[in-house]
Amino acid sequence: RVVVLDFGGQYNQLIARRIRDLGVFSELLPYNTSAEELKKMNLKGIVFSGGPNSVYEENSPKCDPEVFNLGLPILGICYGMQMIAYHFGAKVDRAEKREYGKAELDIVSETPLFKGMDKTQTVWMSHSDVVTAPPGGFRVDGKTHSAPIAAMSHPERQIYAVQFHPEVRHSVYGNEMLRNFLYEICKCSGNWNMETFIEDAVEEIRERVGDRKVLCALSGGVDSSVVAALIHKAVGDQLTCMFVDHGLLRKGEAESVMKTFSDNFRMNVVKIDAKDRFLKKLAGVTDPEQKRKIIGNEFIRVFEEESAKFGDHQFLGQGTLYTDIIESGTDTAHTIKSHHNVGGLPEDMKMELIEPLNTLFKDEVRKVGKELGLPDEIVWRQPFPGPGLGIRVIGEVTEHKLNIVRESDAILREEIKKAGLDREIWQYFTTLPDFRSVGVMGDVRTYAYTVGIRAVTSIDGMTADWARIPYEVLERISNRIINEVEDVNRVVYDITSKPPATIEWE
Ligand code: XMP
Repeated sequence: RVVVLDFGGQYNQLIARRIRDLGVFSELLPYNTSAEELKKMNLKGIVFSGGPNSVYEENSPKCDPEVFNLGLPILGICYGMQMIAYHFGAKVDRAEKREYGKAELDIVSETPLFKGMDKTQTVWMSHSDVVTAPPGGFRVDGKTHSAPIAAMSHPERQIYAVQFHPEVRHSVYGNEMLRNFLYEICKCSGNWNMETFIEDAVEEIRERVGDRKVLCALSGGVDSSVVAALIHKAVGDQLTCMFVDHGLLRKGEAESVMKTFSDNFRMNVVKIDAKDRFLKKLAGVTDPEQKRKIIGNEFIRVFEEESAKFGDHQFLGQGTLYTDIIESGTDTAHTIKSHHNVGGLPEDMKMELIEPLNTLFKDEVRKVGKELGLPDEIVWRQPFPGPGLGIRVIGEVTEHKLNIVRESDAILREEIKKAGLDREIWQYFTTLPDFRSVGVMGDVRTYAYTVGIRAVTSIDGMTADWARIPYEVLERISNRIINEVEDVNRVVYDITSKPPATIEWE
């Protein structure tokens, strides 16, 4: 595998992502991971990512200098290149003009990184610092109009560096460069795919669990279903699945989950009705982070209490994904919102966690699900957050408001499916802002809630665009919601992408 050391760029996980798509397992690690640790990982190469800092600033992130002595090929991207230059004693300066966007790269020397591509090509730049002279032993491989050293390398030490971003699609040969790095330079074998992922995961789970018992948090969503199927494949009947109805589920969901799992899997699934507990805990709470933490905590408490009734379970299987971990804040990424699976864990939890999907992106989880033989309706189920409707009711959560979201959401889902849009839209749901506005219905003044429709397209939930739902479909949805859902007199459509907004409203 190849690791990406994370120097804080917002889209660094894209690099790991592209590498995986090229058949090599890759993950993001904190920039200060020690050479000692990296040595133990059986790596084929290391990538230094981009980042927002300047290398000459005091306290700017630097890797362990010993990383350069591991004898592994290194690819530095943007800030990563500047750090390599700095490490080897070259000058890095503030550029006269910040360069952002497309640039023409001229390749000026033969290097395995640029093998098989045009000598002049478009690349994507985003930087404010430039390397002005190559460090000793390095040669210049490419230049652009405003970066005299847009690429450089030290072939004997197998260090390659580029000022532009090959991971961004606008870099026309970016993918080929990464491929060359992996296969020409690192000599990777390239056999990582979902099949090998499953084999490895099953073996790891078996080894870790031994003859002990695992409890799984089944929500019916793709993540927890895949986790359950994976753990079931590994340890069979040592797994018990618990489905907690926290009262924050969509309309009809509890029934359909139970049905699917008793029909499709012959798994031991126990349903717990904990509606009252959650609502009581949420009473009067309006802060989104607090709500998330309360729901996450309560979830685990219920599991602990209920599992005690089935005898000892030492492990808790959870569908935490890679994106949950990144967005909950690594050393260098800012905390955006604490995701249920990560931020909500109580510190005194008694079970050990098994999170076999925590290195995967959502679309990879779907592939694993398919590979494991899960039915399409589960594999293609739209993502649903752990805290459920609790974070789609803005402000205090009450049964009345939950009902509005549940009913309006059911209408939205029905109409989207009818319009044949359910596969192309990544997520579509309704939210309920915490205010009322004035309307008129049948000549009578109304003062009622506004329902927000959120529908986005996305590949992995990290970025998203609002879905261009045809006006006629929106019109039908709006009419039906106003007519069929009590205490609603207005419907709005959210036309913000992520970033700057997030997908959920809380
Ligand atoms: P945001 O709102 O952060 O959502 O743009 C990104 C994706 O994650 C889902 N989401 C969650 N999933 N626990 C989860 O399991 C959570 O606490 C949580 N919060 C958001 C969201 O629905 C979207 O798919």
